[in-house]
Amino acid sequence: MKTIVLIGLVLAISGVALARDLPEFIHVCKKNEPNLSECIKSSIINMKPQLKTGVPDYKIPSLEPLILKELVATAGGNIKLKLTNVIIHGASDFSLTKLKANLETLTFVADLDLPRLSLKGNYDVNGRIILLHIRGNGPMEGNVTNSKGFVKIQMKEYKKEDGESYLKVAEIKTKIFVQDGALHLQNLFGGDPVLGEAVNNAINSNFNGFVTEIKPALESAISNAFTDIANGILQQVPFKTLFPES
Ligand SMILES: *[C@@H]1O[C@H](CO)[C@@H](O)[C@H](O)[C@H]1NC(C)=O
Ligand SMILES: *[C@@H]1O[C@H](CO)[C@@H](O)[C@H](O)[C@H]1NC(C)=O
Repeated sequence: MKTIVLIGLVLAISGVALARDLPEFIHVCKKNEPNLSECIKSSIINMKPQLKTGVPDYKIPSLEPLILKELVATAGGNIKLKLTNVIIHGASDFSLTKLKANLETLTFVADLDLPRLSLKGNYDVNGRIILLHIRGNGPMEGNVTNSKGFVKIQMKEYKKEDGESYLKVAEIKTKIFVQDGALHLQNLFGGDPVLGEAVNNAINSNFNGFVTEIKPALESAISNAFTDIANGILQQVPFKTLFPES
C-alpha cells in the first residue's frame, strides 16, 4: 500500500515537472514514434495558434506579425544590403508541405508554402543589382505572393551545466523561391525622385531577377534569424523532454 502511494506521488511530481518543462500546447513526439516525421509535422500544425501570437514565456516569437530587427546581407558579391525593423504579415498562413526528421543524424528538412507576405521596414542598400547601381536608405514596403521555403537543419547535442543534453542548430540551409511580388523603396539616391522612380520601376518589372540577385543575402539573413529563434527555444527544454524514449 505504501509503495503504491509512493509511486503515485512520484508520478504526480514528475507529471508536474514535465508539464512545467513543456507547455501543454506542444504535442510531444516519442523518440520511437512509428512515423516521427508525421508526428512532428502535426505537432507543428497543432501549434499554429501559439506560433501566430507568440509565447513570450517560452521565447516563441509571434509570427503575426513577424518582426525581424535586422537582416544583414552577409553573402559576398557586389551588393551590401541591410534591412532593419522589418514587419512581416502573412507568415502565420504558412503550410507545411513536407517534413522529414531523423533523430539518429539529428537532421530536419521542411518545405513551406507562403501564399502571401507583406513587408514594411527600413532598407540600406549599396551595390549593383540587375545591372543597376542602387544606393539609398529609407523606408520600404512590398508584397510577395506564392513563395516557397526549403529549410534543412543539422542539429547537434550538447550538455549544459545541469548535466542534461540539449539540442542546438549546428548548420542551417534556407532556400526561398518567390513567384511574384512588388517592392517600393523610398528615398533612393538621397531622395532623387527621377532616379528613384526609375529604379523602383526597374525592380518591379524584373522582380524575379531582382529577387534572384538578393536571394543569397536574404537566405543567409533568414537562416541567421531562424537559428537565433530556434536556439532560444531549444535551450530551455532538454532533448529527452522534447523527444522522450517512450
Ligand atoms: C511518414 O510521414 C511523412 C510526413 O507526413 C510521410 O511523407 C511519409 O510517407 C510517412 N511514412 C510512412 C512510412 O508512413
Ligand atoms: C502591397 O499590398 C498592399 C495591400 O494590397 C498595397 O496597398 C500596396 O500598395 C502593395 N505594395 C506594393 C509595393 O505594391
